[in-house]
Amino acid sequence: MTQIQNFSTSRSGSLSYYVPILKKLDWKVAFCFGLVAVGAYFYIRAWKRPVSIPLAQIELEKGMIVLETTTQKIQRLMPKILAYQDDPEIQWVRQGNSIIFKLQTVPGSIFKMEPPLVGRDHTNWEDKKHCTISVFGNAATQAHFDNIIEGQKVCLENNLDLLKIPHTKLLEVVHDDKQFKVIAQEFIAHKADESAQEEIWEKQSVKMAKAVHQLAIFTALMNLSAVTRRDMPFVDSNGECRIAILDFKYREKAQTGFFGDAYLRRMGLIRCLFSEQLIKDVLDVARQHDIQPNSMTIDQVKEEVQQDIRRYHEILQFHDMKGIKEENARASIVIQDVKALGFNDEVQEIEIRNSVGKWERKLITLEDALNEMVLAINDALQKTPDEASIRGKRFILIDCDHYGVLGRYKNCGAPSHKNSITPTEANRVWLNRVLQALVDNKYIFSFIARPDGGLFYIQA
Ligand SMILES: Nc1ncnc2c1ncn2[C@@H]1O[C@H](COP(=O)(O)OP(=O)(O)O)[C@@H](O)[C@H]1O
Ligand SMILES: [Mg+2]
Repeated sequence: MTQIQNFSTSRSGSLSYYVPILKKLDWKVAFCFGLVAVGAYFYIRAWKRPVSIPLAQIELEKGMIVLETTTQKIQRLMPKILAYQDDPEIQWVRQGNSIIFKLQTVPGSIFKMEPPLVGRDHTNWEDKKHCTISVFGNAATQAHFDNIIEGQKVCLENNLDLLKIPHTKLLEVVHDDKQFKVIAQEFIAHKADESAQEEIWEKQSVKMAKAVHQLAIFTALMNLSAVTRRDMPFVDSNGECRIAILDFKYREKAQTGFFGDAYLRRMGLIRCLFSEQLIKDVLDVARQHDIQPNSMTIDQVKEEVQQDIRRYHEILQFHDMKGIKEENARASIVIQDVKALGFNDEVQEIEIRNSVGKWERKLITLEDALNEMVLAINDALQKTPDEASIRGKRFILIDCDHYGVLGRYKNCGAPSHKNSITPTEANRVWLNRVLQALVDNKYIFSFIARPDGGLFYIQA
């Protein structure tokens, strides 16, 4: 203190006067500067810059070049596209409530349009093309495109830099004197199968944490109601982990986007997660945006998600125990000892058509039903997507009516009234008994029977 006063009287005004003061204060100054810098960094990061829709659209369209020849190609193919017909040039991604396709010669893009004949028969487009086409298709395609622009705007405004919005442009293609709007979008290379994404979301949980946090914010701000791993896949570009947003169509309720819907037709972000930390983080974001589950408490939601996670790991352990790996993921089920399954000699008489089409009576046994079911399972295992994880390759749907003679066994043991079936009645249905025996003897992991019968979801 005395030293400073001495300097102030003798050499005040010169630089050397301040040096000792700064020396004395330097740690404080450095600390303050540090504090200000860190504060400024977070302020700028958190700073919500308003971005106009035209600016967001410019950003969205950046680099999305659609050659005139591509537009002409779509124009030429339009009759087939509208009729959901095949062509060597068209690679169909969806032929349903949305039309989504790729072109063989334009691998970097994907094209989307909402069908002009929603819910109608597309096979006879030729008959209908002279009717007034509803603007419904174009209006819906435009609305879809507007959603994507808004998604881009939300990302820019909120610094959601770990979400990848594919570059997108809206095309107008004239065919038959009518104008069709078509979305052209950057194709994002990723594993499109749900089970493949499930595996990635599980394995990369830690790496994805920040991107998932941003997806939660995005879901809240965009009011997204369809959040699935399939439509929000993980993309790893040069070690940077991002989540691509591929579906912007459904924006009714962020509550569904977070928690799914009652029948889990929509999964909800919370059910996509595998780590406690991420679950907590996503629930925090939901709370900050005042979004709560519909008919459950937060604790119940957490418990359900934990149950799903436990089940997922039990399936992996089951496959481990059975020696099922990537290379034998589609291994068939071979029943070693039919007697060990404990079926009695139950027999039923059914009517079937013989080889010349005449009805005749035939005796069938539970063991016959078992053999047919195992054949159906083994056949279905060969048809699961190549991209699927091991679990996905062994998750199958059996519709009895489409599996040889399996349909014959559908009603065996089933009550004649079909609308509601009690658990005790369900236990008497032959095919349920067969599948339960396969579960009990660890040939398959689990099954779910649709209550109306004949349809089974099987995790082998
Ligand atoms: N830009 C894209 N890049 C790569 N694949 C895409 C892209 N957009 C959509 N897809 C694929 O198409 C699938 C269906 O698209 P989506 O818009 O979700 O249609 P829908 O919900 O009607 O089935 C997606 O799950 C994804 O696999
Ligand atoms: Mg979708």
